[in-house]
Formats: sequence, C-alpha cells, structure tokens
Amino acid sequence: MPSLNDIRTTFLDYFRRQGHEVVDSSPLVPRNDPTLMFANSGMVQFKNLFTGVEHRDYNRATTAQKCVRAGGKHNDLDNVGYTMRHHTFFEMLGNFSFGDYFKEQAIPFAWELVTKELGIDKNRLLVTVFHTDDEAADLWKKVAGLPDDRIIRIPTNDNFWQMGPTGPCGPCTEIFYDHGEHIWGGPPGSPEEDGDRFVEIWNLVFMQYEQFEDGTRVDLPNQSIDTGMGIERVAALLQGTNDNYATDLMRSLIEASANQTSSDPDGPGKTHHRVIADHLRSTSFLIADGVMPSNEGRGYVLRRIMRRAMRHAHLLGAKDPLMHRLVPELVRQMGGAYPELQQAQALISETLETEETRFRQTLDRGLKLLDDELARLPDGAELPGEAAFKLYDTYGFPLDLTQDALREKDRTVDTDGFDAAMAEQKAKARAAWSGSGETKDAAIWFDLAEELGKTDFLGYDTESAEGQVLAIVRDGEKLGEAKEGDKVQIVLNQTPFYAESGGQVGDTGVLRCDGGKARITDTLKTAGIFIHVAEVTEGRIAPGAGAELVVDHDRRGAIRSNHSATHLLHEALRERLGDHVAQRGSLNAPDRLRFDFSHNHALSAEDLSEVEAEVNAFIRQNSKVETRIMTPDDARAIGAQALFGEKYGDEVRVVSMGKAPTGKGADGNTWSIELCGGTHVRQTGDIGLFVALGDSASSAGVRRFEALTGEAARQYLAGQDKRLSEVAAAVKAPQAEVVDRVKSLVEERKAMQAEIANLRKELALAGGSGAGAAQEVKKINGVPFVAQVLQGVNGKDLRGLIDEHKNRIGSGAVLLIADADGKAAVAAGVTNDMTDKVSAVDLVKAAVAELGGIGGGGRPDMAQGGGKDASNAPAAIKAAEAVIGG
Ligand code: ALA
Repeated sequence: MPSLNDIRTTFLDYFRRQGHEVVDSSPLVPRNDPTLMFANSGMVQFKNLFTGVEHRDYNRATTAQKCVRAGGKHNDLDNVGYTMRHHTFFEMLGNFSFGDYFKEQAIPFAWELVTKELGIDKNRLLVTVFHTDDEAADLWKKVAGLPDDRIIRIPTNDNFWQMGPTGPCGPCTEIFYDHGEHIWGGPPGSPEEDGDRFVEIWNLVFMQYEQFEDGTRVDLPNQSIDTGMGIERVAALLQGTNDNYATDLMRSLIEASANQTSSDPDGPGKTHHRVIADHLRSTSFLIADGVMPSNEGRGYVLRRIMRRAMRHAHLLGAKDPLMHRLVPELVRQMGGAYPELQQAQALISETLETEETRFRQTLDRGLKLLDDELARLPDGAELPGEAAFKLYDTYGFPLDLTQDALREKDRTVDTDGFDAAMAEQKAKARAAWSGSGETKDAAIWFDLAEELGKTDFLGYDTESAEGQVLAIVRDGEKLGEAKEGDKVQIVLNQTPFYAESGGQVGDTGVLRCDGGKARITDTLKTAGIFIHVAEVTEGRIAPGAGAELVVDHDRRGAIRSNHSATHLLHEALRERLGDHVAQRGSLNAPDRLRFDFSHNHALSAEDLSEVEAEVNAFIRQNSKVETRIMTPDDARAIGAQALFGEKYGDEVRVVSMGKAPTGKGADGNTWSIELCGGTHVRQTGDIGLFVALGDSASSAGVRRFEALTGEAARQYLAGQDKRLSEVAAAVKAPQAEVVDRVKSLVEERKAMQAEIANLRKELALAGGSGAGAAQEVKKINGVPFVAQVLQGVNGKDLRGLIDEHKNRIGSGAVLLIADADGKAAVAAGVTNDMTDKVSAVDLVKAAVAELGGIGGGGRPDMAQGGGKDASNAPAAIKAAEAVIGG
C-alpha cells in the first residue's frame, strides 16, 4: 500500500521523466496574486506563465502544492471534521504545460499515471468533459478505451475551471473513481452525485482564456494545461478507503491527538480528532509561511482555524494546550517534502502554545455564557447576534467557532444581528477616536484602516510581491488617480515594503502597474496602514490596479545587515560593560548603524576593539537567525531584551542569533535574544564584516556607538588603507614601518625646532639679524648703552640675552626689543654700578610707551614689558636714550 509520501514521489517522478521541471510549492500566501487570500491550487504560482507575461527556461512543470481553503471564496472550514473529504489544508499534485502540449498529451499522461504508475483499476474510472468538448471526449475514447457511458458531458461550470473572478481559465475534464455499490451515490451529473460513491480524483484544465474583471474573456497567447489531483483522495483509494482521514498521514496525526489526550481515536471524540488533525496542518503550514494570528485578514483566518481546533481539544478533555504537542508528528510526516516546516518548528510550536494558553483562559467562561444564553432561549431558537458578538468581543470566539459549537446542538446564530453589533462597536470606537484631537491628515489613515483593514506585510520573506492599490492619498485626501510627476502616498492590501519603525528605516523601491510606474522613496506606517511615499514616474496609477512591488534589494540587504549587527553589538556591549547596558535608541539605515545605550563613561580603545572583535566572531560563526512569536511575558522569561518603555502588543516577535559560549549571552546559550519587528539576515555570516567607528556622548548617561557593516565597512577600511599607503609614500617608508617613521619624524622635528631656537639666540648675540641691529656701544651721558631689535627671538629669552650683553660690556645699560609678528617684547638691563644713574624700569617704561603698550616693570637692574606695535622700535630706542640723556 503506497503511503501518501510515496504517491507524491511517484507523481513528481513520473512527470520528471516526461520532461517536466519539478518546482517547489509556492508559499501559501500568494506573492504574485493580491486578490487571493491563500494559494488554493497548483496553478497560482504559474499564473503569469499562462497569460504570457512571464517566461521561464522550462515550459513543462510539475508540483506538489500546499493549498488552504478557509476564508475567501473557497471556504471549507465549517465542514471539516464532519465529512470524509473536507480539509482546510490539502496538497494538490499537478502537471503544467505553458504553451507546450495540450489535450492530446495531457490525457494520455493522466491515464498512464493513474492506471500504470498508481495502478488504479481502470474499470473503476470514469471521466467528465465540458459538454461541447468533443475533442476531449474523443481522446478519452481513443486513449483509455472508455465506453460512451463513462465519458459524461457536463454542461455546467463544474467542468469549466476559473482561478478566481479574473485570470486564466478554461474547460476541464475530470477523472472520477467509483468506490463501489456499497456506498451511496451516483455518477457526476446524476441526481445522486453528491453521494460518496463517485469521487473526483483529478481535474485537467485546458487553459485557453483569460477572464477580465469587466466580464470579457480573451484567448490566451498559447493553449496550456493545468491539472490538480488531491493527494489525500488518491491516497484514500489506494489505501482501500474512501475516507481521507483514514489514510496513513492523517491517521498518524489523529493517533497523536488521541495519544496526547488519552482518548480513543475512533470513539466519541472522532470528529474532534479529525478537526485537530486537519487544523494542525493548515495552522502549521500557515505559520511556516509567515502568517501570524491576528484580528485581521489572513491572520484572522489563521486564528479562527486555531481556535476552532482548540475548542475541539477542549471538548476532548485536554487539560493543557494540546496543538503544539502534535507538531513533532506533523514534522515527521511532512517535514521531508516541506523543509520549511522543519525550519519553522519552534515558531509553530510556540505560536500554537501561546494562542492555546491564552484562549483557554476565556474558553470555559465563554462556553458557559453560551450555555446560559441557550438555556434562556426557547427550544431551537437562533442565538441572538448580540450574544454571539459578546462571545467574540469578550471571549475571543470567532463567529464560526460559535456556529461550530451550536452545530452540535442543532442551533444557529443570527448573523445579521452579529454584523450589526460589530458595526455599532466600530462606530463607537471611531467616535471616541475623533474626539482625541488628531490632525486631519492623520485622520485619513485611521479611516482607511477601518475601511480597508491593516496592510499585510510580506517583507519578512520576500522583497517583491504583487499587491492591489487600495487608495491614493495626498494631503490627507483620497485621490481618484495619480499621474506622472505627482507626489502621493499609496496604500495597498499587501506589501513587501518595510515601514519605518524600531529604528529601522523604511524601504524604497518601485511600484509598477498596467500603464503606470512610481518610485517609492520611503515607507511609513500609521494605524496598521503601510504608507508608500511615492512619486509617479510614468503614466497613471489608480485605486483598483494590480501592482508589482519591488524593494530596492541592495539597500534592504544593507539595512538588514546593520540591524542584525546591532543585536550582536548590544549583547557584546552588555557582556563587556555590564548588565546596566540597555538600548536607548537605534538607527538602522543602509549606510550605517547607530546604537544608543545606557552607560556613563566613554569606551576605552580596548573596549572598542574587544566589542568589535566579538561581533565579528559571531558573524564568522554564521549561525542561523531565528524568529519566534510569543507573549511579551514569555519573551522576557527566556531572557529577551526589550526596549525600555516601549508598548508591546499581545504577541511579540522574538529574534535570536548566535550560539554563545556556555553560560554567556542572553540565556547562557543563545548570544542575542531581542523583541524586534525588524528584518534580519538569515545567517549571521550575511553581515559580512563589522567595523566600529567609535562612541560618543549622546545625552546624560547615554553613549552612542556608531559602526558600519558589509560593503560600507569594506569601503571604509579600503579608504583607510588607501590613506595609509599615501602616508607611507609621503614619508618614504614601507607600510609596516610607517608608525616608527612618523614617530621619528616628529622627534626629529622637535629636536630641530630646539636647535633653531638656539641658533637664533647665538645669531642674535653674534651681531643680530634683521632691522635695527645695533651692536655698538654708545656712550650717553657717561653711560655705555647698547640697544638692539631682534627677530625670531622669544620674549622669554630676552632676560638671558640681557645678562649676556651686560657681561659683555661690563658696565652700562642694555635695551632689547623682540619683534614677534609685529608685537613687541621689551627688556632692559643696567649693570649694578650704573643703577644710580639710570633705572632699567625707566628705560622699559619709555620704550613701551612708544611701542603702544602700557606699564612695564621690574627692578632697577632688570625690567620687562611689552607693546602692540614693534614697528616703532627705533622711536622706542630713541626714547630710552632720552631717558639716559636726562
Ligand atoms: N486548477 C485546477 C483545480 O484546482 C486544476 O482544480
């Protein structure tokens, strides 16, 4: 009996041998189709290949595609657990031709695979074709030898397949399996077709048209093939059952659920186990693809599925959260084919546990309220919308959970009443908000949040995606369109653009749609709405348009590196400086990072270089960066660093990186664990390089650390190296000897300066230089007198010179004026035998008066002073002579 995993392999291998490229499943969140909530069939990822917009280097492909049908148009949620074939998550096997083969080959491939590879008895098979499709009917006759009564023509849309309201479509043919007379039901098209006897196992779509919003349908450029086989159904029939939940994979999950709750997998709790098994798959795969439980959009669908499963776990009597305990079995079953499940295992477990723990806190009380309400109502009456709304609002019961609970009691809900209660609450919240004094420009974002819901952020996993333009805004007003040159703000339903927050700058990039293009220069966020700050560079853009969004890859890469490096740095600082280090702010821009932290002193050169070395060691460790979601309390409990004073929601993203030496790091095991909503590298090695620029004071008690990473760091170091080479060339030394050479040049320079000063002194004594040099001794009034103007001599050297002159002349008076860049320093000396005739103080005073100075002083034998204007030195000498002359 082939297992489900065997069947997947058989299918993909068969088509690989037929020249098909085996392509991975696309994520459940469609990045190439904003109109779809979740990937709901294999062709979604190839949509643009069918329409001819995109080409790849293959024109045949085969996939096993993850699909979720819960929410939106295809919603199977309500039936899951109660039927044998409804799932919220299933795998669709498919083969695709993009303008390569068409019906003539698709039908033989399918027949061969079903009857030969899978070995299904052909006597149990029958097919349907679109009623006008003679070609397909003839092919079935020829290839499969099916009699006419087993080629059933269907005139309805059952045999015309459309992806959604728009997109590629075409007539189809379906292969059915007859489980046998013992099961009630009739062939397709018969009044009993809804029975379980005849089960559709494979749908082959002959893609021929593209459907547009206005209802028109045009031929595709090439006829193509899209097929879808539900693997669970085929597994069921190959395993001799018509119940998908009895197949090996689903059974293993059901048994895990039964084991964990010590209950009988086939007993009274059978439905609960089925619900749990199915919902475990959809929730785990959605979380692995980046969807997180929330109160809006995709996140809300996830929450609804989770809570539905959790109520069924509760009904089984599970005392503690159950879902997360089943994840290992799911990973064991499906982790081989879908490695993303393995990678996200911790994230899945924690998200499920957090949600279940929280939900359990209100579940009992909510169910009690429901029972009380029902007891008060007449038998069989609808539950009033008000009560259902209270369950939703106070106890977190999604409407379908209440409906599910009522279904067991054959009761229903007044859904109109529920909607009315919901609308009334929104109106109240709005009235309260409009009184809060926000500006008009900001008001638009709150209006839009209410009207459109929050923007779905896809940018943790992808840098490009499609989105639908929902609104264009300028100066707080909605616009009908924007045209070339307009600067506007664009809102879409989903986006890969990160909006500025938590220190990480907003993304930039381009937005393209039919007939228009815009440059996105920044991305901001208000009330959950992502605001794309845009300049239209071509054509026109209007709300409703489908748009392709591409983030500037290099810039985002650099921002990511800086952000992850900031986390490594934060921990390195804490380890080096102490636990008082806490984040006070940060900037993660493409060109640099800045990290402000509480600390009182400047970092020493050794601190800086140690911290830099530590961060680089973790970069080289190249360990995986992990993201998990948990409650803020759980996050703190595991040692996560949170931003002081920041408000966190019910659930936080926790980013961890680096394997720490034992006993070190955030929890003695992991280097860095932080609450963070930013985007990060996948492996620490992606950061490349970290260069510390230094630290400075930011504010009292706060230091600012600045650093570079990746290419910016490399460029910085290259610049430093270039300068060093230039220095080496200038000082004519090899780079290794530059420091010694520069030091010795500085020493030499000092020695030379001293030497020059000496020489100048000697020169001055030896006869002087410059204007007013006068060495001869004049006799005035019986007093020998020498006067001299000196250039390049320091004022403080004058005393020494005076003494030398006094010794030289033996008896008399000396006046020296030093001209230092126009300013004058004056000194006078009188030998002791002459001080009764003339005082040095008088000489200086007379000279200083001429030199634009005031005062001057000292003793009769030695005095000093200064003046502003050395050019008057000759007059100053004359004045001194006049003093001696009496
Ligand atoms: N896209 C087709 C389906 O989902 C094959 O049935």
